[in-house]
Amino acid sequence: MKRTTFFSLVAATLLFTACGEETKKASAEATASVTEAVKEDSAEAVEAAKAEASEVAEETEEKSEAIAAAAAEKAEAAKAAVASQVAETASAVEEKAEEVVAGTAPEMPAAYGKCVGCHGSDGKTKALGKSAVIAGQDKAALVTSMKEYQAGTKNVAGMGMLMKGQVATMSDEDIEAVAEYLSAIK
Ligand code: HEC
Repeated sequence: MKRTTFFSLVAATLLFTACGEETKKASAEATASVTEAVKEDSAEAVEAAKAEASEVAEETEEKSEAIAAAAAEKAEAAKAAVASQVAETASAVEEKAEEVVAGTAPEMPAAYGKCVGCHGSDGKTKALGKSAVIAGQDKAALVTSMKEYQAGTKNVAGMGMLMKGQVATMSDEDIEAVAEYLSAIK
């Protein structure tokens, strides 16, 4: 080998080695900067994702608050509607009850049972076409009439004796109950 060739070989090797070192360094630097960039990027991405997440969370919170408020309002309205319906129903029932009470004749006492054939169950029949209507008469007047028939002192249409027989066995309580019943009929 010539000397010049040997030297150039050595130079080339040196150069090559140096180059290798440079390349290695450059690549290491590049790697570092890429890593840095990736780190930065991902940090930014994480920040952005965090910000977005908190925004979404805020929005969701706002929305659920709005939904809760709307639901509460609806519940309140439903409550009010039910309450007014209940009140309406209650007053309707009360009215009906009053109607029934007003329209229903008082309960007939047992002592009036034998009078029904001539005076009618409601006392509105003129007995044998001769008597007055006994329903709706004043209670005291009815008591007096029955007691006078018992005593044989009442005779309006010539049938006083017939009525005497009808009321003969009535007790004061029976007379009271019958008078109460008849006077209560409208
Ligand atoms: C058989 C039919 C008959 C029966 C049953 C009968 N009555 Fe009479 N009642 C008459 C007649 C008729 C007179 C009218 C009597 C008269 O001439 O005063 C009369 C009159 C009366 C009067 C007086 C009415 C008025 O204002 O002048 C009363 C009150 C009365 N009856 C109550 C009764 C009661 C209570 C009974 C049942 C315990 C009864 N009667 C059963 C036929 C009947």
